[in-house]
Amino acid sequence: MPQEGLESIVDAEKDIADKHGVSYGDIIQFAAAVSVRNCPGGPRITFLAGRPNATQAAPDGLVPNPFDSVDTILGRVEDAGLTSDELINLLASHSVAVQEHVDETIPGTPFDLTPGVFDNNFYRDVLLPGLVIPGPLLGFGFTLHQGEVKAPFIGEFRLQSDYALARDPRTASRWKSLGSSQSLMASSFATAMAKMALLGQNAGSLHNCSDVIS
Ligand code: HEM
Repeated sequence: MPQEGLESIVDAEKDIADKHGVSYGDIIQFAAAVSVRNCPGGPRITFLAGRPNATQAAPDGLVPNPFDSVDTILGRVEDAGLTSDELINLLASHSVAVQEHVDETIPGTPFDLTPGVFDNNFYRDVLLPGLVIPGPLLGFGFTLHQGEVKAPFIGEFRLQSDYALARDPRTASRWKSLGSSQSLMASSFATAMAKMALLGQNAGSLHNCSDVIS
């Protein structure tokens, strides 16, 4: 996900981490695990605590943009140590996500019609034909924004990257599998999140605090 749009969330998390003396990496992982679990259908994600704070900021440009090609996106996630299947598994997060900055005239437009529920409608919707541009004029005389493609329904937003990943020969099969099985989607997401949460960390020096996730 592009960094833009998450500032308010991470700023609030920074204040909580500072107040309680925990690292920023831990608070990000903890908040993610609690948030997903609070969504109906959301799986329980392993939570390990004890990451040290980073010693320097990450360079700009490491997180893929919705207008990047599939080659670029897969290259970036592979650099980070994740497979293309794991990326598709992680995109279950877009089932409970909205856009704010791709089209700033309609902040809060979700990527499926059930953004409060961790369900696999997202994967199925992205496979439908694109018919409308969900701007204020409901598609009439309105232009697409960078990173946006036509959505199947009014009130829903479709990212170019999701559209392309759902149709690329390297990722289409995994996409369809998750669209066919809610339980596979939930368990695959939890496994991929647990892996992503440990990238660059020494798991042996962390403590398993998963019991605090209900
Ligand atoms: C192909 C890689 C990805 C691309 C190109 C991408 C792109 C985007 C974009 C453009 C937005 C809307 C941002 C805004 O306008 O505010 C978004 C939202 C979001 N994405 Fe992704 N994303 C990707 C992967 C991921 C992954 C791997 C996760 C988590 C595991 C994730 C979680 C989210 C969440 C939670 C939101 C909603 C943020 C909010 O509600 O403010 N995304 N993503």
